[in-house]
Amino acid sequence: MNETKKMNQTLEIIEKRRTIRAYNPTPLTPEEINTIIHGAMRAPTAGNMMFYSIIQVNDQKMKDKLALTCDNQPHIAKAPLVLIFLADVQRWWDYLQLSMVPDLCEERGIDLETPQESDLLMACCDALIAAQNAVITAESLGIGSCYIGDIMENIEIHREMFNLPKWVFPITMVCFGYPKGDKEKIPLKERFPKKFIHFIDNYNRLNKEDFTEMFHNVNRDFNIKFAKNLGQQFYFGKLGADFSKEMRRSVKIAIKDWIAKNGDL
Ligand SMILES: Cc1cc2nc3c(=O)[nH]c(=O)nc-3n(C[C@H](O)[C@H](O)[C@H](O)COP(=O)(O)O)c2cc1C
Repeated sequence: MNETKKMNQTLEIIEKRRTIRAYNPTPLTPEEINTIIHGAMRAPTAGNMMFYSIIQVNDQKMKDKLALTCDNQPHIAKAPLVLIFLADVQRWWDYLQLSMVPDLCEERGIDLETPQESDLLMACCDALIAAQNAVITAESLGIGSCYIGDIMENIEIHREMFNLPKWVFPITMVCFGYPKGDKEKIPLKERFPKKFIHFIDNYNRLNKEDFTEMFHNVNRDFNIKFAKNLGQQFYFGKLGADFSKEMRRSVKIAIKDWIAKNGDL
C-alpha cells in the first residue's frame, strides 16, 4: 500500500481479508449471526428502500443441494453460515398493489410501470452492497467468508427451493465460518497495478504493452493443458467454461421473466 493513509483497524481488516473456503465446523452463535445481519442492513441502500432480502440457509439438506447446484463446490455444504442475498423488488411491488397504486394509475389514465431491467440492476446494487457489509462485519469478528457467484445458475431449481417470486433474483451467496487453521497462511492474492484500474476523468482502453505490464508479476496457475497464455487460460477456465454457459442460460431466463409485463412465475 503506497501513498495511502496510515493503517487503522478498519483498513487493516480490509487489507488482510482473503476468501476463506475451509471452515472450522463450530457453528456461529446467534449473536454473531445477528451482528453480521445487522452489519448488512446498515449498508447504504438506494432511497433507503432496501431492495434486497437475505435468506439464511440452515437446513443441511439445502446446503448439500446448493453445493451441487452452485457448480459443485463441496465447501458450501460445510459452511456454518450460508446467506443468500436476493435482489428484491417484490416486497415493494406487493406493497404498491396493497396501496392500490394500479387503481390510481387507471383513474388518472397513466400506464402502470412494472419493474424492468434498471430496477433489477438497482436491486442488485443494494443486495451486493449489503453482502459486502456482511463480509466486512464478519471479518471484524474473525469470521471468514466466501462469495458464491454460482447461485445465479440453475434459476429454476433455486426458485423452487426458496420459493422465489417473479421480482426476486438471487444475485449472490456468501458462506461464512471461522477459518480452519491459520488464515494468515493463505497468501493474499495480488491485484493488478492501480494505474490499470483507477482512471482520472476518462476511461483508458489498454493496449498490448499495457497488458504485458499489467500481467507482469501476476502468478496464476495454468491448469488448462492446451492454453498457451493467460488470455486463453482465462477464456477456457472462466468465460468459455461450462459454469459460465449455465450462468448465462439461467440469468437470461431470470431477466426475461423479470421484464415480462404480466403474469407470475
Ligand atoms: C461476485 C463473486 C463471486 C465469487 N464466486 C465464487 C465462487 O463461486 N466460489 C469460490 O470459491 N469463490 C468465489 N469468489 C471468490 C473469489 O474467487 C475471490 O474473491 C478472488 O479469487 C480473490 O481472492 P480474495 O478474495 O482472497 O482476495 C467470488 C467472488 C466474488 C466477488
